[in-house]
Amino acid sequence: MAFIELKNICKQYKGNPKNSVTDFSLDIDEGEFIAFVGPSGCGKSTTLRMIAGFEDITSGELYIDGRKVNEVKPADRSIAMVFQNYALYPHMSVEKNISYGLKNMKVPADQIKEKTDWAIRILGLEEYRKRKPKNLSGGQRQRVALGRAIVKDSKVFLMDEPLSNLDAKLRVSMRNEISQLHKKLKNTTIYVTHDQVEAMTMADRIVLMKDGIVQQVGKPMELYEHPDNIFVAGFIGSPQMNFFHCKVQDGQLVFPDGAKYQLTNEQNHKLAGRSEVVMGIRGEDIKFSDLYIQQHPENIMDALITNIEVMGNENNLYFEIGGQQTVARVDKYEVCQEGDTRQFVFNPDKMHFFDSKTERTIR
Ligand SMILES: Nc1ncnc2c1ncn2[C@@H]1O[C@H](COP(=O)(O)OP(=O)(O)O)[C@@H](O)[C@H]1O
Ligand SMILES: [Mg+2]
Repeated sequence: MAFIELKNICKQYKGNPKNSVTDFSLDIDEGEFIAFVGPSGCGKSTTLRMIAGFEDITSGELYIDGRKVNEVKPADRSIAMVFQNYALYPHMSVEKNISYGLKNMKVPADQIKEKTDWAIRILGLEEYRKRKPKNLSGGQRQRVALGRAIVKDSKVFLMDEPLSNLDAKLRVSMRNEISQLHKKLKNTTIYVTHDQVEAMTMADRIVLMKDGIVQQVGKPMELYEHPDNIFVAGFIGSPQMNFFHCKVQDGQLVFPDGAKYQLTNEQNHKLAGRSEVVMGIRGEDIKFSDLYIQQHPENIMDALITNIEVMGNENNLYFEIGGQQTVARVDKYEVCQEGDTRQFVFNPDKMHFFDSKTERTIR
């Protein structure tokens, strides 16, 4: 296990005028599971590869266990990496694939056997140890790739979108397996993904990036409940948070089509001195139940339901607020039909307000 410190790390590739990573600072605790998440091209892989030592660090400092490693070769950083396109050796069996790296490192044979047996057991690959990769399922192959990483006694695991080649169902079961594995091994792990669900479900802490810049670092529910800006609020959670550009007038929120919402005292206090604001609300915080409607009689609004997505465990209702497409997540027992007009209220405690220029959360 190891702790990792990134201090003001920047990366500019040769021939690329733009910084790919700018001023990335983060302290990672021993044993932590960190997810780097963000849209394609935001600098996740670049950052991971700098930590691994596969890319030079343009400026800034990287420490592993308190030792500065900017100039240390990848092989001497005690890290193991699992990639999206893990290439297994096609002519080698599962056990040979797993033990091959140790042989190359000139580890004594009895230790190789012990380590390989341990990895095969921990990954549930006993039945398949003599099989070649072509006779394995995608998930089994991915486990072999993990096996190659875990036998190396590395202090740090780095994983770059390791599940993105698997089908949706397998991704769900493999993400659970990787979480379980981390609970057993407790290695410091950095996991790169563009999938916010993977980040939310696996990570102790999430680092959300955009355009090479860290937007927010925090526990999954911190990002979900208390996003620092509109980008974070919109990236985390599905369906996406609804956003409305509103005016603030006489203690009311005025939607683009003139619909009005009576702000609470607390909200008025928060928005004091502002004339416009972006209001954000998640689908599950738009409430159709009688209980909520009775609690907030001053702010009842009407929704003309234009589409219903039946998810099985819940329903997504589409309608317009203030002239803008909106989605609410409701209980599966909340039965309604397209064309129905239903009353709803916002849960005032879950309304988010953002500065309309800086897009930062108003606290
Ligand atoms: N070898 C390279 N040379 C120049 N630019 C690169 C190179 N590799 C990546 N980039 C650029 O750096 C940015 C970050 O890329 P990357 O770290 O791969 O993003 P991510 O993994 O988040 O999708 C992108 O704009 C990409 O085009
Ligand atoms: Mg990448």
